[in-house]
Amino acid sequence: MNFQQKFHKPTEIEASAPGRVNLLGEHTDYNDGFVLPTAIPLRTTVQLGLSNNEQHHFYSENLDEYANILDIHHTPSGFASYIFGCIEVLKKQEYTIPFLNVYVKSSIPIGSGLSSSAALEVATLRALRQLLNLPIDDVAIAQLAQQAEIHYAGVQCGIMDQMAASLADTDHILFLDTRTLERRLLPLPSGTEIVVIDSGVARTLASSGYNKRRAECEEAAQLLRVKALRDITEVEAVEALPELLRKRARHVVTENSRVLEVLQGVSSQRFGELMNASHTSLRDDYEVSVPVLDRLVAILQKTPGVFGARLTGAGFGGACVALVTAGEGKAIVTKVLEQYELTGDRGQILVPIITR
Ligand code: GLA
Repeated sequence: MNFQQKFHKPTEIEASAPGRVNLLGEHTDYNDGFVLPTAIPLRTTVQLGLSNNEQHHFYSENLDEYANILDIHHTPSGFASYIFGCIEVLKKQEYTIPFLNVYVKSSIPIGSGLSSSAALEVATLRALRQLLNLPIDDVAIAQLAQQAEIHYAGVQCGIMDQMAASLADTDHILFLDTRTLERRLLPLPSGTEIVVIDSGVARTLASSGYNKRRAECEEAAQLLRVKALRDITEVEAVEALPELLRKRARHVVTENSRVLEVLQGVSSQRFGELMNASHTSLRDDYEVSVPVLDRLVAILQKTPGVFGARLTGAGFGGACVALVTAGEGKAIVTKVLEQYELTGDRGQILVPIITR
């Protein structure tokens, strides 16, 4: 199937955006904190054309799902909600958006914590910018994409994923201060490459406790009388909080300091240690890991050539990321996956891309 076959017209515009993997700085973005994502070589492509009638027509090649939007006052569900959300946020900015045919294809797995949704939003907005000549820059694209996710997909997310999809590349790590949007492209630690393995345990962001974690952080910030947990820099300051909030806040404060340490310049070894510490904190204090992820991370951490490993993204399932010796990624992930699958779990190597 392609655009022409689906809509009986040629494509007018095509745009794409990458997925991302976050190396460090997890669950810090909605606390105004610091993150270190990088783009991965998996992408979502959106093709657009004008519709023949007063309806939107969206098609996802991967899901083989078609959504016909007859009622623009009703948000559709599934993949269509992201495209619909992008159109609606642009309309709120007073742009006139025509009725569209939209064709989506992607190599980013859904629900693995690699931001397939942000890639879809950013690719959709890029395609609309091109089609309609909209005067919006890449930061505005990310901000509009985040609004689409919050208001139309129902996830109270931060800005990391959309900024990464809009501004990151696969050769650098994007340091981002999510409060000021100050950013810097950093090189990968010397002599390393990134690997990503999906645990095979699916997760659903909206129903997974993500919004609950966010509310807990807001409550902790309120009790500590700061605007956001980013404003707490000494971990001792969280000691006075009730136990659950203390754990949540402790993760955020220590995670921010790990990212800032990287920004000062660290060895590959130290970067790996910080990733390992991040996983422990996400598991024990933030409680967003699950036993299978812990097992996959433990296997990675014990494998020679691995500097460090952790769950990546929101957690509750999905993928793990590791920093490994350059040139050894393929051999390492193959070996790790073999071991992981001994107990019947089914994982998938996502980065590096291995063609069999
Ligand atoms: C999801 C959200 C991001 C971020 C991460 C956790 O990917 O969309 O904004 O909060 O979880 O770090």
